[in-house]
Amino acid sequence: MENRGKQNETPTTITIKGILSLLIANTEAKDTNKKVISLGIGDPTVYTCYRTTSNVQEAVVDALRSNKFNGYAPTVGLPQTRNAIAQYLSRDLPEELSPDDVYISAGCTQAIETTLSILARPGANILVPKPGFPIYGLCAAFRNLEVRHYDLLPEKGWEVDLTSVEALADQDTVAIVIINPGNPCGNVYSSNHLEEVAETAKRLRSIVIADEVYGHLVFGSTPFVPMATFASIAPVITLGSLSKRYLVPGWRLGWLVLSDPNGIFKNLKFVERLKKYCDLNGGPATFIQAAVPTIIEQTDEAFFRKTNNMLRHTVDICCEKVEEIPCITCPYKPEGSMAVMLKVDFSMLKDISDDIDFCFKLAKEENVIILPGIAVGLKDWLRITFAAEPTSVIEALERLKSFCRRYSNVQNGH
Ligand SMILES: Cc1ncc(COP(=O)(O)O)c(C=O)c1O
Repeated sequence: MENRGKQNETPTTITIKGILSLLIANTEAKDTNKKVISLGIGDPTVYTCYRTTSNVQEAVVDALRSNKFNGYAPTVGLPQTRNAIAQYLSRDLPEELSPDDVYISAGCTQAIETTLSILARPGANILVPKPGFPIYGLCAAFRNLEVRHYDLLPEKGWEVDLTSVEALADQDTVAIVIINPGNPCGNVYSSNHLEEVAETAKRLRSIVIADEVYGHLVFGSTPFVPMATFASIAPVITLGSLSKRYLVPGWRLGWLVLSDPNGIFKNLKFVERLKKYCDLNGGPATFIQAAVPTIIEQTDEAFFRKTNNMLRHTVDICCEKVEEIPCITCPYKPEGSMAVMLKVDFSMLKDISDDIDFCFKLAKEENVIILPGIAVGLKDWLRITFAAEPTSVIEALERLKSFCRRYSNVQNGH
């Protein structure tokens, strides 16, 4: 009986959504009429400046109105959708993907869930970045897959600490997860670094899971290079979605793509298991899938440029404002994605014990929501999502500054 009870325990993994809802419930700055500003969650669509384009919307409306897509789609995805994603990703790859390499999922989240479920076997482990995206830990906990955290190096643009990867891996390591462009750090890895990751995976006889949900959302000097560029060195499972680049996270259109020129997945019977597993998954709505070819073919570069310019602008504001706050430092200015990690020097603050205490007091006193670093694996850091209107970012950081000044234990203000 005892054992059975244990198996059914809920994983204790902290989730971003869980902690943010507690913080929101804690907002109550009574003496002012400060509106709540959330720089907590990576859903830019709450701000009107991050709207998808009309042609993307029309593609969905047309697919819906056609009455051709009211039925079930094949569980691996509609053929035209798989083909469109294969072509879209192949634009940046040395080898053309086949539509058969593409599996359509309900957002990138379901692609993560499917991948980890298929890789899980008794005793297996995966290596995930710290800081990272907690859904990997949560999903692994449900699948009894052991998670080992390797470090990212803030002073080296949050690159993968390959020494820590090598030290953690053993014969039961089934995959190394990388997130590029990165959440929560905003890293964009160079082609050289990705090649080093592939070489390390090869040495460890592991595969690479490349979470590229922020693919192409880059605004610094490093271009986005897909991990699958190096699939001939080590096999790659690329996970992505329309959510971030097309600004439609609620449409739940994602993908899982196999890049495996050496046929390693076939030997592992991975493809067989994957196809079977898809029969369990309810993917995205058929009419959303049907709209994908038009969405991909007809979306203007100007739309993507606008988003990236906006993100560049708000990250600039964020980093400039942080420089005015003595107890907070930003070791790396993001070149991609929508989030930045900031380090807090608690020795400069009084009456705040740690990052959780910091974020709860900030929510209560300033109506500003930001994520405690512990939620992404780094205690005493903060994660700010800068995909917000510039005026909101300015206002939130001004409030953060006066909050830090109030709690400063250094004489004369800050
Ligand atoms: C790194 C990372 N992977 C996956 C996801 C999930 O993406 P989706 O909304 O498409 O499920 C997110 C969402 O924020 C993310 O940040």
